This record gives sequence, C-alpha cells and structure tokens, in this order.
Amino acid sequence: MAGTGTAHLREHDARLTVEDLVVEFRTKGGHTVRAVSGVSFDVLPGETLGIVGESGCGKSSVARAVMHLPAPVSGRVRLGSVSLGELDAGALRRSRVAMQIVFQDPVSSLNPRRKVKDLVQEGASIWGQGSASSRSAAARSVLDAVGLDPDVVWNRRPHELSGGQCQRVSIARALVMEPELLICDEILASLDVSVQAQLLNLLRTAKGERRLSMLFIAHDLAAVKNISDRVLVMYLGKVCEVLDVGVLDRPVTHHPYTRLLLESVPVVSASRVAPVRGSAAAQDLPSPIDPPSGCRFRTRCPLATDRCAAEEPVLEAKADGQFVACHEVP
Ligand SMILES: Nc1ncnc2c1ncn2[C@@H]1O[C@H](COP(=O)(O)OP(=O)(O)OP(=O)(O)O)[C@@H](O)[C@H]1O
Ligand code: SF4
Ligand SMILES: [Mg+2]
Repeated sequence: MAGTGTAHLREHDARLTVEDLVVEFRTKGGHTVRAVSGVSFDVLPGETLGIVGESGCGKSSVARAVMHLPAPVSGRVRLGSVSLGELDAGALRRSRVAMQIVFQDPVSSLNPRRKVKDLVQEGASIWGQGSASSRSAAARSVLDAVGLDPDVVWNRRPHELSGGQCQRVSIARALVMEPELLICDEILASLDVSVQAQLLNLLRTAKGERRLSMLFIAHDLAAVKNISDRVLVMYLGKVCEVLDVGVLDRPVTHHPYTRLLLESVPVVSASRVAPVRGSAAAQDLPSPIDPPSGCRFRTRCPLATDRCAAEEPVLEAKADGQFVACHEVP
C-alpha cells in the first residue's frame, strides 16, 4: 500500500472520510509529480481538521481532490454516506452545494467579469434557493459578516478590490451556501490581523451553531492551532502525524518533522518537546518526482537509520489522541 496508514480513522459517523488519496501530475517532460501519496483522514460534524506542512507538501492538492476538482488518481472520498467517486457529473455538482472551498488564490478563483453581488449569490441562484430578494438579503448579510460594507462593494468587480477583499468575497460566497463542509486553503494569508480575528470568530460561530465541519489549511502550526480540533501534519505528500490539538502542549514525543514545525512556533515551543538538532530546518523539500524511498522525511531527519530507507513507517497510536508514522518514536 502506498499510504501511511488508517489507524487514526474513527468509527463515528464522520461528515468527511478520505481514504488512501493519491494525486499525481504529469509534467511536460513526461515525469510524474507524486503530490499526494496515500493520505487518509476524517472530519466529524462540527469538527475542524487543520492541515499543516511546508510549501509544496500537497495541501492544496488534497483540498482539490476532496472536491473532485479534478478527481484523484485513486482513493475514496465520502461526504457522509455518499461516495463522490460513484456520482455522475450532475450529482457531483449538486454535492458541491454541501461542500464549499475557498481557494488559496482568491483573485484568480473569482470570475473577473462578474460583480460582487452576482459572485456571492451565484450558487443560490444556480440551485434556485430562495427568492431573489431573500438571496440578496443573505448576500448582504454575509458580506457584512466578513467585514465588507455591502453598499461599497456590491457593484464592484474583482479587479476593483484588494487581494484581502477578494479573499473575503470568496469566503462570503462559500458561507452563504451554508455548507456542511468548508475547505479553507490559506484563507488568512492576505488579511490584516484584525480581519483574521473577525473571520476566525465567524467560523467558530458557524461551527457552534450549524456544526460546520472544516478543513483548515495553513503553512504554520500557529495558524491552525487557533481554530482546529485536530491537526494533520503533512510532509512531501504523506501524513507524518495526526493529533488532537491539546496534545501539542503535552509532553509527548512528536514526529521529528512536527518537532521542526513546533520549533518555529515560539508559544508552542515552550512545551517540553525535544528539539530536532541539525540543519533539517534549512533544507529544501526533496522533489516529489523522485521522492526518497521508505520514509520520505529521511533525507532531512537527524534520527534516520537504515530501516528508514527500506521501510515506510505507518501511523500508529502513541499518546492518547496522537498517531505518529515514525520508526523511532517510542
Ligand atoms: N498542476 C500541476 N502540475 C504539476 N505539478 C503540480 C501541479 N499542481 C501542484 N503541483 C506540484 O504538486 C506538489 C504539491 O503542490 P500543492 O500546491 O498541493 O502544495 P501546497 O502544500 O498547497 O503548497 P503551498 O503551501 O505553497 O500552497 C508541488 O510539488 C507542486 O509543484
Ligand atoms: S521513520 Fe526514520 S527518517 Fe522517518 S521520521 Fe522517523 S526516524 Fe526520521
Ligand atoms: Mg497550497
């Protein structure tokens, strides 16, 4: 199996279940980019799963594959009891009402010819939800909630907005559909700290009131720690560690890559985690065209042994609420 295990999947009724997801790209030179290689996770109703890892590790590829935009090379994605891979094109489009995504690059994800009022109401109009006046009222209300004055932005097009304002229009157009699952791909990156706090509060309210489930993707642990119930740490298309967010502050032994991420978060690094020594932090991600054998982190890992080159580690339960894929973590 290409994957890094499924020990962390739960038996409850998950809202989203992803098993052994594989995403690959063909380059012009005929190579295969192994962007995601056997990633599994689940998200319960009202739960937020943070996905963290450095640039190029495959976070956005996971997000798009969950939405089937496009479908993954292999693996299963279930929204509730519905297996997306078994749906025809029409049913798949309908399933996306319940499953919304805010893309990492908001400007290019918005149709440049459409005005904000149309962008935000588009989904509800297509699916004939409510009357024209109720759709308009809902759009104005959600724009206000994301910190945009509807009277100011209503008739503007994306090129008349800043990157941060486009980001908020994207969030508004996803939230107005009242989805069961919201995928947020680096949504805070282009926003001021005060707007970030406002949006996080809005998402927390939706979690509490509507049991909204979320995938919350970011580069760094500090951002995901704030909103997530559970965190999945990715490295070069694989899962290193899955943990309840409270485990971050407990004196447990983390995956060496998680330790590297923790060292770059001042508040969290006050916890008693053994640092990873050496120059791992300064090294680049290896190429996903020819990833290292065995454990993909081994070329940067100060604890690597011969076994790590020969045998891929699978996720195993370690502390309560913690699953780690590493031969050396006790
Ligand atoms: N359309 C594509 N064609 C070829 N390679 C791609 C394509 N999209 C992504 N990749 C490659 O797949 C890998 C994973 O990319 P992805 O965008 O999923 O990473 P990411 O974790 O979201 O990074 P970032 O934090 O920078 O957004 C990278 O090596 C990337 O270069
Ligand atoms: S399996 Fe080996 S190379 Fe991978 S993280 Fe653990 S010790 Fe390091
Ligand atoms: Mg990305």
